[in-house]
Amino acid sequence: MTDTLTLNTGVTIPRLGLGCWMGIPVSPCSEVNDDTFQMVKRGLELGYMHLDTASGYGNEESVGRAIRESGKTREEIFLTTKLNNPDHGRVREAFDASLARLGTEYIDLYLMHWPQAIGPNGPLPPDASPTFVETWQAMERLFLEERKGKVKAIGVSNFSIQNLSKLLEVAKVVPAVEAHPFLPNTELAEYCKEKGIVMTAYSPLGQGPLILSDPLLTRLSSRYSRPAGSIVLSWALQRDPGNWTVVPKSSNPERLRQNLETVTLEQEDLDALSALHKEPGKYTSLCDFGNASEPAGVLFGWRIKEDLGFDYPITVREDGGWQARMRERDASEGK
Ligand code: A2P
Repeated sequence: MTDTLTLNTGVTIPRLGLGCWMGIPVSPCSEVNDDTFQMVKRGLELGYMHLDTASGYGNEESVGRAIRESGKTREEIFLTTKLNNPDHGRVREAFDASLARLGTEYIDLYLMHWPQAIGPNGPLPPDASPTFVETWQAMERLFLEERKGKVKAIGVSNFSIQNLSKLLEVAKVVPAVEAHPFLPNTELAEYCKEKGIVMTAYSPLGQGPLILSDPLLTRLSSRYSRPAGSIVLSWALQRDPGNWTVVPKSSNPERLRQNLETVTLEQEDLDALSALHKEPGKYTSLCDFGNASEPAGVLFGWRIKEDLGFDYPITVREDGGWQARMRERDASEGK
């Protein structure tokens, strides 16, 4: 739990954190979400000292309340939140709103959640203003001048080598990516390492059962007498320890505790997990991003391959995923 890495701003980040995406955004944003509150409060008691939330998760208020009621000092905790796609043109206002919802004096790491900006009529094309480079420059102004001291580090999330290299013409950043044995993102990690950029693996369990029930995980689980989730997280923390931080989410008290208990894996097992994505049909995003209302090959308005620079498929869930659940919930609330 005390294992940390140092970011290029000199800030230290605990390597194991708690992901706070609860599978559906809380609506409206000002509502205090009890599941998040309970999970974060319990997580802080267990020793998770790094929390990863986002304006788009709709639960910053609950995270902030859990921090205040945890008995921990703010300085003991590393807090990440993210700029939402519709806010690319209003970075300072969005940052201030996140600070207010979290009820905190500062953010340790502020990330651009996605490279895509959303305007009043939907997602903007990659070359429309604000481009992600312009948004990044606004984030730099925030960090260096406008909110100096209130944001300790800035970074990006969901950037490929293609888009990161465009950004690096103007900046040095801390990216966050989906990373697990089906999508290890090793090439991007090597690229970032060369540039002195630390990685955060989000959804390191692949958001659920698919990886955990893989035959390799079943075998390793019995070999080490540890649950499959522990094996995946041990790989995530040991594959290249100087480069990765990891933020699994669990609102289940037992799994929340289990996810802190990693085991030392043999090199051959680390290698087998690193190679798992090469098996036919496995190299894919497992995150619940896909939106049935978008054309195939498009994610949040951008072409997955050409514009986002992702070389793997993103699957639309048969049940429509969180976006379908959100529509159902909004309809049931008469919105
Ligand atoms: P739950 O919150 O009920 O534990 P990720 O961190 O990759 O996004 O994955 C989060 C998902 O994985 C959640 O649905 C969470 O459910 C589940 N999960 C978290 N930890 C474990 C674990 N150790 N074993 C199995 N499932 C887990």
